[in-house]
Amino acid sequence: MGRPLVIGRSASGEAFALQDACPHRGIPLSYGHFDGTAIECAYHGWQFEALSGRCLKIPSLTSDATLKVERICARGFPSREADGFFWVFVPDDDGRAVDTLELPPPPRVPTFSERFVLTHLALELPCTMDHGIIGLMDPAHGPFVHQSWWWRGRHSIHEKAKRFEPIPNGFRMSAHQPSANSAPYKLMRLAGGGSAEGLRTTIDFVLPNMRFEVVRFGQAWFSTLTTVTPIDRDVCRIDVRAAWNIFRWATPLVLPIGRFFGKKFIAQDQRTMERQAEGLKTQPSLMLIDDADRPAKWYFQLKQALLDSRRDKTEMTHPLKAPVILRWRS
Ligand code: FES
Ligand SMILES: [Fe+2]
Repeated sequence: MGRPLVIGRSASGEAFALQDACPHRGIPLSYGHFDGTAIECAYHGWQFEALSGRCLKIPSLTSDATLKVERICARGFPSREADGFFWVFVPDDDGRAVDTLELPPPPRVPTFSERFVLTHLALELPCTMDHGIIGLMDPAHGPFVHQSWWWRGRHSIHEKAKRFEPIPNGFRMSAHQPSANSAPYKLMRLAGGGSAEGLRTTIDFVLPNMRFEVVRFGQAWFSTLTTVTPIDRDVCRIDVRAAWNIFRWATPLVLPIGRFFGKKFIAQDQRTMERQAEGLKTQPSLMLIDDADRPAKWYFQLKQALLDSRRDKTEMTHPLKAPVILRWRS
């Protein structure tokens, strides 16, 4: 987004995010020194309280100086940490002050019991955030990209029909019984006693960059929050935060295995995106087809609708008016 930030955590554990430029002469504050309360700029030693951005000290001032130091501020942005994600609220640049009490709570990994295991995977993709996102919601690449003995082969391809419905700022693949051929779902069934009856999965995409997946089976549940964050124009980063309450007793065994397969799985996507980046260098024209690419179309429409509504200060018109069934083979 072209806005460098210096982010951190105060001695009391609170998250902060400041524009990474000293209000004096612009050197990045991240070159400075942080003692848990204040950041001291590396150039002339001005000190800024990290949580408020307020200037605390200008070492060059003499004792009779009249400059009101506390009126000087490094620009700060409201920020929160949750489930290992660091969220920064960047307001529209219209100079309006942000009332932090009015901000929505940070997105959370969905959880359904008090005790659970939480783990995290991250990787960088050499593509724009848009390609990262539509790759994430693409249902048709599975049999070709994710071929493996433990997941599925290309011959498992079959016709699917899934119901989608609009939700605020996004869309949902309505609760359905997941395909029987994938290993993680087999595991979930095992945890729940064998039959797939009652096994339900729901997948949400929510602007700007979030995919929530929840698999539930009686008391057993597994959920993920996946985000795609732009690093710069041509690189994005995928973060998957997963939580579950099944086989909790076996965590020391299951966690490394789960992470191993999880990493393999997203590495398959990564390799594909690297190859795609090769092809995209010459900016070929691309296409989105129905129905398999319809979620990608919705993503672009949602994004445009949100931008339009902000520009015109009107209610956002949701591209998806009512639930629909999409059909594809994968
Ligand atoms: S540039 Fe930061 S104190 Fe001067
Ligand atoms: Fe994939």
